[in-house]
Amino acid sequence: MTTIPENEFYVDEYEYYDELFDPLADTGRRGRAHRARKRKARPQHAPKKSQQQIVAELADAEGYEGGFNTTYQPSRHEAGWLLESLRSFYDRELITDVLAQVKGGKEANVYCCEADPAIGVDLLAAKVYRPQQFRAIRNDTLYRQGRDVLTSTGRAVKKTDHRIMRAIGKKTRFGTQVMQTSWLMHEYKTMELLYQANGAIPRPIAVSENAILMGYYGEAGWGAPTLNEVDLDPNEAATLFQKVLHNVELMLQHNLIHGDLSAYNILYWAGEITIIDFPQATNSLANQDAYTILERDIARVCEYFAQQGVQREPVAITDDLWHRYVMPDDCGGEKPSAR
Ligand SMILES: Nc1ncnc2c1ncn2[C@@H]1O[C@H](COP(=O)(O)OP(=O)(O)OP(=O)(O)O)[C@@H](O)[C@H]1O
Ligand SMILES: [Mg+2]
Repeated sequence: MTTIPENEFYVDEYEYYDELFDPLADTGRRGRAHRARKRKARPQHAPKKSQQQIVAELADAEGYEGGFNTTYQPSRHEAGWLLESLRSFYDRELITDVLAQVKGGKEANVYCCEADPAIGVDLLAAKVYRPQQFRAIRNDTLYRQGRDVLTSTGRAVKKTDHRIMRAIGKKTRFGTQVMQTSWLMHEYKTMELLYQANGAIPRPIAVSENAILMGYYGEAGWGAPTLNEVDLDPNEAATLFQKVLHNVELMLQHNLIHGDLSAYNILYWAGEITIIDFPQATNSLANQDAYTILERDIARVCEYFAQQGVQREPVAITDDLWHRYVMPDDCGGEKPSAR
């Protein structure tokens, strides 16, 4: 949990967050916007600094994160938000270095990090969400049905919290940040739940306001391919199709639907599949479009496996899953999504 540093004065924690994640302030809370809008600090009569101290502080500012030097050399515009986003993992002694960028996605970049020896693995993946202005606009209305807005501690925001609800409704910068944090917390919580249920997903290690740290698949600096980049022989394809389906069932047993399942969000490594990218996971019972979302997930998976020689009927599979896990008493007719 973020605590407001001493000597900095804000109306409340939310104003602090607002400035902390100001995408316009390219050096995070050290930025100009931060200084301009910060409450007036008590006068401080700092003792004169020695030449040595000044040089050391300047070196820190240059390296941006005071000692958090990385093997990976981020571009100039990337450096600020990347290091700010990963710094808490570094400070919590979960990672010791950032080795490479594995993939730049539409909303997030994924980095290969060196794990602290205490974690028990060599490498970890950090999925770092880009600041708003570098991100594709997501239409998330479909997935948000029936789910709470989560804070960075995983708590649900009360519907009676008018300040936050108004900010979200008006899409203010603060409201947008709240939604992004909620989006990220849903992803992390879903991963925790599925990992504990033995799902074929990366081990979730930690979450910060802007990034998720998880198990890494691939070589150092070279991430595992996603299924769409791989050609399988039909026997292996049949086995892996069953594994994907098993994971879809596991999710349904926990009232979850992935919501963006396809060969693009399944890693292939050491002959096994690993499902990734969970922010749009939705509740199968609370979302009235659940059937459509499930059907689309299954259709996309079937489409890939059909190319690998495994022909399956997506609608029949969806109906079977639907009756077994979502609506046992649904005897055909209109699906909830058609209501
Ligand atoms: N745990 C991991 N280990 C190795 N590589 C990973 C891991 N997680 C993600 N990746 C790589 O990073 C890419 C982006 O991750 P993810 O799909 O979670 O983010 P995204 O922003 O939704 O991306 P996209 O917009 O491309 O779907 C993946 O396609 C995969 O290549
Ligand atoms: Mg993805």
